[in-house]
Amino acid sequence: MSTIAPIITGALARKKVTTFTFRQKKERGEPITVLTAYDYPTAMAMDKAGIDSILVGDSLGMVVLGYENTLPVTMEEMLHHSRAVARGAKTALLIGDMPFMSYQVSVEEAVRNAGRFLQGGGMDAVKLEGGRERVDAIRAITGAGIPVMGHLGLTPQSIHQLGGFRAQGKTAIAAKRLIEDALILEEAGCFSIVLESVPARLAELISKKISIPTIGIGAGAGCDGQVLVTHDLLGLFDRFTPKFVKKYANLHSEMQKAFADYIEDVETKHFPAQEHTVEMADDEWNELLRIT
Ligand code: KIV
Repeated sequence: MSTIAPIITGALARKKVTTFTFRQKKERGEPITVLTAYDYPTAMAMDKAGIDSILVGDSLGMVVLGYENTLPVTMEEMLHHSRAVARGAKTALLIGDMPFMSYQVSVEEAVRNAGRFLQGGGMDAVKLEGGRERVDAIRAITGAGIPVMGHLGLTPQSIHQLGGFRAQGKTAIAAKRLIEDALILEEAGCFSIVLESVPARLAELISKKISIPTIGIGAGAGCDGQVLVTHDLLGLFDRFTPKFVKKYANLHSEMQKAFADYIEDVETKHFPAQEHTVEMADDEWNELLRIT
């Protein structure tokens, strides 16, 4: 897997980002940048752009594989895409998202599956969803030397329990429970926690109460870092766009236009043109005509 040695990208050398870098950035008050990726070229572009960390999220299921939610995603699917991302990104801290049922059944399975992300998936760390109910698994995985990122608030693997994709921690009682969970995850050994769809002032309060970095998605500007699903940011996923997403491009409609242009070019015989065509030397052509 990736090494700690500096990576040369063009003229710039960037050091491999580690969980220690995350901690240092929080201490210095420098925002941590995280995006999701599921394939080689996207990971490579992000790495070159200077992203701190790439999450191979189980959002894969929705934005790439076309599932209704993240529940059907398997370990095999996650590992397949993790390996592609690892081939493309050499500097960012790579985090593999543990899919539904890969860590809930037993602590042993949780450790084994977390290990697969590092051994066969090229990842540096894993992420899993949940609070106090996941403490035993987190302790065992970190005990095996595998860094764990927690995930609190809207945890999409529990949508049926949560009653859908809805913001969390909006009442005083629910907010208190989230704060407690964040402290429990820190104590269990997580190196960082994703806070998804929680009120901004609650996320800021949690970020101040714990010493590990919080990475927000729909959790306001008071977190120590931010993560977005790349297909939302690029406008590649057109089924819906959550309110907290800032779209930096509209690639779905650009792609659709490019495909329509191609279809028209082929149908009207404007493609392929001379410059897209391989030719044979005249003498070889004449010889071919002579022998056939
Ligand atoms: O799966 C995912 O992409 C995630 C992010 C939304 C944090 O968990």
